[in-house]
Amino acid sequence: MIGVFDSGYGGLTVLKSLVDRLPQYDYIYLGDNARAPYGTRSFETVYQYTLESVEWLFNKGCPLVILACNTASAKALRSIQQQDLPHMEPGRRVLGVIRPTTEVIGNYSSSGEIGILATPGTVSSESYPIEIEKFFPGLKVFQQACPIWVPLIENNEHLTDGAYYFVKKCVRSLLDQSAHIDTILLACTHYPLLQDKIAMAAGPGVRIVSQGEIVALSLEDYLKRHPDMEEKLGKGGSRAFYTTDSTEDFDRHATTFYQAEVRSSHARL
Ligand code: DGL
Repeated sequence: MIGVFDSGYGGLTVLKSLVDRLPQYDYIYLGDNARAPYGTRSFETVYQYTLESVEWLFNKGCPLVILACNTASAKALRSIQQQDLPHMEPGRRVLGVIRPTTEVIGNYSSSGEIGILATPGTVSSESYPIEIEKFFPGLKVFQQACPIWVPLIENNEHLTDGAYYFVKKCVRSLLDQSAHIDTILLACTHYPLLQDKIAMAAGPGVRIVSQGEIVALSLEDYLKRHPDMEEKLGKGGSRAFYTTDSTEDFDRHATTFYQAEVRSSHARL
């Protein structure tokens, strides 16, 4: 199985794109809803929680785990890849969502100026500006943290008028940093649920880019370049969902993110 991990529901937006593009594989999703959100937590805590989740997915038999969470990708991926994997599971791999996004994001902008909306953890890690600089050295990158958005979404309050107030506030704070931003990257896998509101707040002329399709294309490419890994993956088209919190709540809420009915089981990490 391909393991797909997020702090909560957000990674389901990535999983949806993965199963649309690569339906033949078996997928297992783990949402650490009991401890979400991660976006306001320290490096050490995000690393610890993410490592536990990756170990759980390895124990379920996943040779490959995707961190479908920018916060975990920003704060835990490097340590897991460099310190933990070589001792733990040399044949297995953990991939994130930041690298595939930064490899292509510059292609979306005509003005050469992009904006990034993300959790406080992702913004303060500076992962996006650092990685983008490697692939698009001339691209100007502006960031804005949106601390309230993930809690709004996790609590199913994102479609309310109250939510629009907070969306507008962050989008305006981002766009006020430069009049030339023509592309906004949603660098949090929860944010596609706010995409309409973000587009409304940004106004015409600003393109809103979410990561699902980008990550799916990148995984397809990765598996072509790594046939040894591709051969290890089950191809029965199965999907399994696990949450560390209430399965009833997860099933009720997950449909909005995954756009199909979800039946989850409980995971004890
Ligand atoms: N979906 C996660 C991300 O992409 C949200 C992090 C959180 O739990 O705050 O960053």
